[in-house]
Amino acid sequence: MEVKCTLQTTAFEDLSKQDQEILNAAKQAASRAFAPYSDFRVGAAARMSNGEIVIGSNQENIAYPSGLCGERVAMFSAGAQFPNEEVVTLATVTPSDIADPKGFAPCGSCRQVILESELRQSNPIRLLFQVKDDVVLISESAENLMPFSFRVKDDGLKRIKG
Ligand code: THU
Repeated sequence: MEVKCTLQTTAFEDLSKQDQEILNAAKQAASRAFAPYSDFRVGAAARMSNGEIVIGSNQENIAYPSGLCGERVAMFSAGAQFPNEEVVTLATVTPSDIADPKGFAPCGSCRQVILESELRQSNPIRLLFQVKDDVVLISESAENLMPFSFRVKDDGLKRIKG
């Protein structure tokens, strides 16, 4: 068995208008984060197959585990608002000073959620990650984030979908 992970890096200026737009939406979403406990703001924006953009940001709570990451707020909101549309692109941005400048990538739970959305739809989800104004990491599929992940067989997923 072979497990592969392929990511590209690109300067913001070299991205398409569409990619720049979705990253800017994610950056704006980060400014709406509620992150007084960690002071680590995360913004996410999903471009849907109908052209809509759904944003999310991390929302913390004094009962710490009750909070939720920006990516999952965006992904679950996308599912709630547009259950019959696909997520084409998901952009995630953090302006945090303590983010690793090598690149920001979603936590394990968010990866699980993004990947399952990808497996449910017919097309891969393009992922863009940016820390502050640094270079953008690009993945053409959520598979890159979580190779050899937990999943059920294809017809099992169909059973869940109904
Ligand atoms: N966080 C995200 O929003 N996305 C991630 O992928 C990792 C972490 C949030 C959770 C918490 O509000 C803060 O960042 C610090 O962990």
